[in-house]
Amino acid sequence: MKIAFLGATKGMGRALARQMAERGDALFLLGRDAEDLDRSARDLETRAGKGSVGEARCDLEEPATFGPALAEAEATLGGTDVVVVTAGLFATQDQLEADPVFLARLLQANFVNTVLFCEVARKQLLARGGGTLCVFSSVAGERGRKPVVLYGAAKAGLSRYLEGLDHRYRAKGLRVVCVKPGFVRTGMTAGLPEPPFAGNPEDVARVVLRAIDRGTPVVYAPGIWRWIMLVIRLLPRAVMRKVGF
Ligand SMILES: NC(=O)c1ccc[n+]([C@@H]2O[C@H](COP(=O)([O-])OP(=O)(O)OC[C@H]3O[C@@H](n4cnc5c(N)ncnc54)[C@H](OP(=O)(O)O)[C@@H]3O)[C@@H](O)[C@H]2O)c1
Repeated sequence: MKIAFLGATKGMGRALARQMAERGDALFLLGRDAEDLDRSARDLETRAGKGSVGEARCDLEEPATFGPALAEAEATLGGTDVVVVTAGLFATQDQLEADPVFLARLLQANFVNTVLFCEVARKQLLARGGGTLCVFSSVAGERGRKPVVLYGAAKAGLSRYLEGLDHRYRAKGLRVVCVKPGFVRTGMTAGLPEPPFAGNPEDVARVVLRAIDRGTPVVYAPGIWRWIMLVIRLLPRAVMRKVGF
């Protein structure tokens, strides 16, 4: 498959891109830091053992970079089958409550700009008859929860957008895969207290790769989070107000 990938330099994105390269997919990396992109591209070339991995500057906080970067990916790969977005910002609820400037950046990047990026990707994929758009949202968007009120609100909006997109365009050939990770050990969660059922990026990547191949509309990763969130979704509001989860 020919894959344009925003966010492959770290964390779950890096693990997923490595598994894609190792099985022979052609990758084109999008990201904001030229050195990180170079390092990741060389790493993926070594793992693939063939071909070269292209790269273009794309900053989730600069929507003007989205169109040119995706167009370059399309031209270099000779078409795009899959667009993956793992890029996103994070801070704790306390940090976001104390820093309205960063809060505005996070809400803008994780919701508005991610949607704008997906809209460019959607048009590009549909123009060639379809493809798969795989975007990392979060279990944090499933319910209003005390520890992730603000980050979760952006992810809730993103999950709902992806659901609607899948309904609207699946019949035209666009498969939308919304990934909802639970707690995963990456740079994003470094230093945070680890809850039960914390996962590793490599395990998440395996689950997500299968979901991309099958076009699964919603995927919880690690898989246990599907059942945890089923219970959480069913809890009455009065109970949610009492618990710290
Ligand atoms: N880790 C978890 O427990 C968890 C749980 C639920 C959902 N998620 C979501 O899953 C996704 C991946 O998380 P992760 O833990 O793998 O994160 P990570 O290790 O922090 O990696 C984030 C990636 O996003 C890129 N990125 C950040 N800001 C960017 C920007 N403005 N423009 C372009 N790229 C940017 C980073 O690139 P740079 O090299 O430029 O920083 C990096 O490659 C995120 O959307 C996150 O919200 C994570």
